[in-house]
Amino acid sequence: MCSSIASFVVATIFATLMLRESNAQLSATFYANTCPNVSSIVNNVVQNALQSDSRIGASLIRLHFHDCFVNGCDASILLDNSANIQSEKDAAPNTNSIRGFDVVDNIKTALENSCQGVVSCADLLALAAESSVSLSGGPSWSVLLGRRDSLTANQGGANTSIPSPFEGLTNITSKFSAVGLDTNDLVALSGAHTFGRAQCRTFSNRLYNFSGTGNPDPTLSSSYLTTLQQTCPQNGSGTALANLDLTTPDNFDNSYFTNLQNNQGLLQSDQELFSTSGAATVSIVNNFSSNQSAFFQSFAQSMINMGNISPLTGSNGEIRSDCKKVNGS
Ligand code: HEM
Ligand SMILES: *[C@@H]1O[C@H](CO)[C@@H](O)[C@H](O)[C@H]1NC(C)=O
Ligand SMILES: *[C@@H]1O[C@H](CO)[C@@H](O)[C@H](O)[C@H]1NC(C)=O
Ligand SMILES: *[C@@H]1O[C@H](CO)[C@@H](O)[C@H](O)[C@H]1NC(C)=O
Ligand SMILES: *[C@@H]1O[C@H](CO)[C@@H](O)[C@H](O)[C@H]1NC(C)=O
Ligand SMILES: *[C@@H]1O[C@H](CO)[C@@H](O)[C@H](O)[C@H]1NC(C)=O
Ligand SMILES: *[C@@H]1O[C@H](CO)[C@@H](O)[C@H](O)[C@H]1NC(C)=O
Ligand SMILES: *[C@@H]1O[C@H](CO)[C@@H](O)[C@H](O)[C@H]1NC(C)=O
Repeated sequence: MCSSIASFVVATIFATLMLRESNAQLSATFYANTCPNVSSIVNNVVQNALQSDSRIGASLIRLHFHDCFVNGCDASILLDNSANIQSEKDAAPNTNSIRGFDVVDNIKTALENSCQGVVSCADLLALAAESSVSLSGGPSWSVLLGRRDSLTANQGGANTSIPSPFEGLTNITSKFSAVGLDTNDLVALSGAHTFGRAQCRTFSNRLYNFSGTGNPDPTLSSSYLTTLQQTCPQNGSGTALANLDLTTPDNFDNSYFTNLQNNQGLLQSDQELFSTSGAATVSIVNNFSSNQSAFFQSFAQSMINMGNISPLTGSNGEIRSDCKKVNGS
């Protein structure tokens, strides 16, 4: 008994050290000799994509988030179904929802044309996320690099590890904590809902009969409720889209937090950050709402924290030549 506890403790310490060591291997200058222009190559493709699709930046950062929460930031989300792969693209949080794979392929082609076999798909997602934010008016940061790509996917993990908009703040906090992210990270990263869209099916439970009460969610402002009921009729298909940020839908700014203070958060999980009385998240929302630079500074740091989740480094994994499949398959 004692010795099994002792060996658990030793194994935990060892695992923690390993995690730190692999984080420590990520570096802003990882491609300085092998692909010095990696950031501008990615940035150029994202910039072009934004000209024809104002939503694409939001879609790209979400890909990085849904990658990192499942087996770490290892591009597992990009693998298609095959004999050995049950794709994460078919997991509940991703199916008929996650997008941007064509732009990822365009970025990969541009990288292969300049630096063949060098830049991982996992790093591509981290760089595309940064470009998406900075090109939309948000902060810039120095992206840490050196991740490698997985040989496997984890569809079951994607079903259970990615937060759902219907679970409460306590459960979502646990899911962040499970990947080493704290309450400040949760609030800052939720600020990514300052751009992009959500389908009616992800929030319509709030509009008519919330939790079986027969009434809408009381934390939804009445004017916003009227607007959303028009976008999402009671028996509609659920696939109509609403802006996550009603005030500045495509800009990366701190208006998301002001929306929460005005009971204009779109998802239940958004509004709970502000409306859960006594929660530690409330004062962080107030800070970010009143001080955009505090939000930007926290957001950049929390993106780095999220990007550090269990990367494959060294000789683990591989550099995929096609982000959709394992090399040689
Ligand atoms: C805190 C828990 C979170 C929950 C419950 C959540 C949930 C959702 C849901 C339900 C959607 C709409 C999907 C659809 O209708 O197809 C969405 C969209 C989005 N999420 Fe989150 N999210 C969370 C955190 C994050 C984080 C950490 C990021 C990035 C750092 C992020 C970035 C986005 C973006 C940018 C969109 C819009 C995507 C697009 O327009 O294609 N979310 N999220
Ligand atoms: C890097 O990109 C810059 C600007 O896009 C370009 O002028 C330069 O030639 C590129 N350098 C290399 C080594 O490709
Ligand atoms: C994940 O969820 C999807 C959609 O609900 C389901 O079809 C799939 O079987 C689940 N996969 C695993 C491995 O649990
Ligand atoms: C929250 O997590 C608990 C324990 O995992 C689970 O039983 C419960 O269903 C979750 N609640 C929601 C709303 O998802
Ligand atoms: C709301 O949902 C509850 C539980 O599902 C149901 O019993 C009730 O009849 C519904 N109320 C209305 C007004 O639809
Ligand atoms: C929606 O569908 C339900 C059940 O089919 C029906 O009772 C209700 O009247 C419909 N509501 C609207 C607004 O069409
Ligand atoms: C806003 O936040 C920044 C960054 O954390 C801080 O330096 C500045 O003092 C804050 N401004 C105010 C008015 O509190
Ligand atoms: C607001 O957030 C910034 C950045 O995280 C932090 O430095 C500052 O202490 C916070 N201010 C308050 C009043 O919580």
